[in-house]
Amino acid sequence: MTPDDLTSRTAVVVGASRGLGAGIATALAGVGARVVAVSRTAAVTAGPGDGDGDIRDIRHETADAGEATVAGRLLDRYDPEIVVLVAGASPHMRALQQQTWETFSVNWETDVKIAFHWLREALLRPLRRGGRVIVVSSGAALAGSPLSGGYAGAKATQRLITGYAQAEAERAGLDLTFTVVLPRFAPETDLGRSAVQAYAARAGRSVAEFLQPMGPLVTPEIAGAAVVRLSTTDHAAVAQAYLLTGAGLQELS
Ligand SMILES: NC(=O)c1ccc[n+]([C@@H]2O[C@H](COP(=O)([O-])OP(=O)(O)OC[C@H]3O[C@@H](n4cnc5c(N)ncnc54)[C@H](OP(=O)(O)O)[C@@H]3O)[C@@H](O)[C@H]2O)c1
Repeated sequence: MTPDDLTSRTAVVVGASRGLGAGIATALAGVGARVVAVSRTAAVTAGPGDGDGDIRDIRHETADAGEATVAGRLLDRYDPEIVVLVAGASPHMRALQQQTWETFSVNWETDVKIAFHWLREALLRPLRRGGRVIVVSSGAALAGSPLSGGYAGAKATQRLITGYAQAEAERAGLDLTFTVVLPRFAPETDLGRSAVQAYAARAGRSVAEFLQPMGPLVTPEIAGAAVVRLSTTDHAAVAQAYLLTGAGLQELS
């Protein structure tokens, strides 16, 4: 098995029932990985924007990935070489003063909590040598996101703790690669659609007018291709953080 060959490697994709996670699970299955898709509800399904991968062999695990025992249980059961953390809550798209603490903190209680549990378990277990963990954060971690409460801060924290995990892996000589990907708007997904509608309305523009200057946009297929690329690149050549736009991955310093 060469580094660029995912055939018969096991990938656990957390948050794969729809959106970017479904695109990532489908792309990994399409290049031969054994994919385990984790989400609380629906199994991964093919649909518009889900790519051309073969999803017949994707195994679905119904679980709340933020529950304390789920990461350990699923890592023990599947012993994956690749773990992709995509799951995230849809933020309440309102101005700061229209948030409650509960709506403001929803991405801390979901996105950050999931990243915390899974990164921790990847180090504690640890994942097998050569293993990779890819965390899907957001471009909002760089630019802020004034209509989604604590979302941008939560996504910035995901980036930070992915870096902490890499440092801990190196200190312990674990031979693991932790990478964070920060996508820009992906308006095809449930989360992306409500975000662009809110920002377009605030700008007094239609969604099309709002998106037009942004150039090519992220799609589930583009996210899938990016994760396949990161999973097949020699670990020494993988950076710790990437911006993801419709044009693909761009290394962040
Ligand atoms: N779309 C964008 O514009 C955009 C931009 C930048 C970053 N992102 C990030 O990309 C990731 C995916 O976003 P998306 O747009 O694809 O969102 P989405 O369409 O709303 O999908 C979210 C996924 O996360 C799963 N999930 C949520 N909570 C979960 C939990 N507790 N346990 C297990 N699975 C859970 C959902 O499945 P269930 O509901 O079935 O559990 C679903 O599969 C998120 O982290 C988001 O912040 C998105």
